[in-house]
Amino acid sequence: SCGPRRVLRHNPTSMRVFSGIQPTGDKHLGNLIGGFRQYARTQEEGEAFFCIVDLHSITVDYDPQDLHDRTLDLYAMLLATGLDPERSTVFAQSHVTAHAEAAWLLSAVTSYGQLGRMTQFKDKSEQREFVSAGLFTYPVLMAGDILLYQTDVVPIGDDQRQHLELARDVAARFNARFGETFVVPEAVYPEVGARIMDLQEPTRKMSTTGGTAQGTVRLLDEPDAIRKKFRSAVTDSGREVRRGDDKPGVSNLIDILSVATGRTPEAIEADYDGAGYGQFKADVGEAVVELVAPVQARYAELRADEGELLRLLARGAEKARVAAAPTLAAMYERMGFVRA
Ligand code: AMP
Ligand code: TRP
Repeated sequence: SCGPRRVLRHNPTSMRVFSGIQPTGDKHLGNLIGGFRQYARTQEEGEAFFCIVDLHSITVDYDPQDLHDRTLDLYAMLLATGLDPERSTVFAQSHVTAHAEAAWLLSAVTSYGQLGRMTQFKDKSEQREFVSAGLFTYPVLMAGDILLYQTDVVPIGDDQRQHLELARDVAARFNARFGETFVVPEAVYPEVGARIMDLQEPTRKMSTTGGTAQGTVRLLDEPDAIRKKFRSAVTDSGREVRRGDDKPGVSNLIDILSVATGRTPEAIEADYDGAGYGQFKADVGEAVVELVAPVQARYAELRADEGELLRLLARGAEKARVAAAPTLAAMYERMGFVRA
């Protein structure tokens, strides 16, 4: 995969990182642990692109004013959780028209059958009476996001595994059909916390759009609301604080505490040996309050200055356009389009 990298990239030696985040639903602890935390870390390791995927958000029923506000909310949240707009390229997908173009071109090398096997599509389409065509082709847009930037690694939550696999297949098929054009990207999943579960129903993932209200910890929840959600978290039968397939509730809380405090899950199990669930849950709640407090303070400051957010977004879009342009041009050329 050195070929396309050398030709289509300004700096072929550094590692390219790309991830996308939807501006829908309030952002929650799962996003922080499975997503944002990794973004801030990976931006130190290479040339990083973080995209607010507003085009993805119109694939399910949505409110235009809401999309507008949440795009700015999310941008402020990404900066609040540690992305540096100087060091990384942080931008909105709709500001860079190459994304919509790439999705259409790549739809020629995406299998209809594979799209139909996406579990996210099956889940989301079951729950509604109007299923948009965009919900079905969503993974093609996502593949384009990644491939346009000659991305080496995609830090991502566990729920996106299948979509990432599809992006790799699309890249390989395009390369085979039209000549080496794309780097085939690798996903990186967080070791602990790739899948934070709902506190009330620990067999499903935490989500503001699909989870329970009490079981979802929003990043902007008040400290007391956070404490209460952890106090009332569902635990499992027995009373030992240890991980196990039969203990999804406790396992989830151990993962959360591990991430929030930097202690290993093994150390946590040892620390709470014989302590029972009450103290454990209170401690997890407190650790999460401490984890999110600085994020909340920084967010409030950033969100208050919309003019500055828009200026920074425009700069991000400019950087992204420059980075995506050579790959999009190569796609058109190799696919046989006349370039006048
Ligand atoms: P989204 O808000 O769905 O666009 O997701 C943003 C990022 O957070 C993606 O990398 C997701 O994989 C990740 N993410 C979302 N929900 C969870 C969860 N419950 N646990 C861990 N990571 C998650
Ligand atoms: N589908 C991803 C999600 O729901 C968001 C996304 C869109 C994305 N494009 C991407 C993630 C490209 C990584 C890379 O979380």
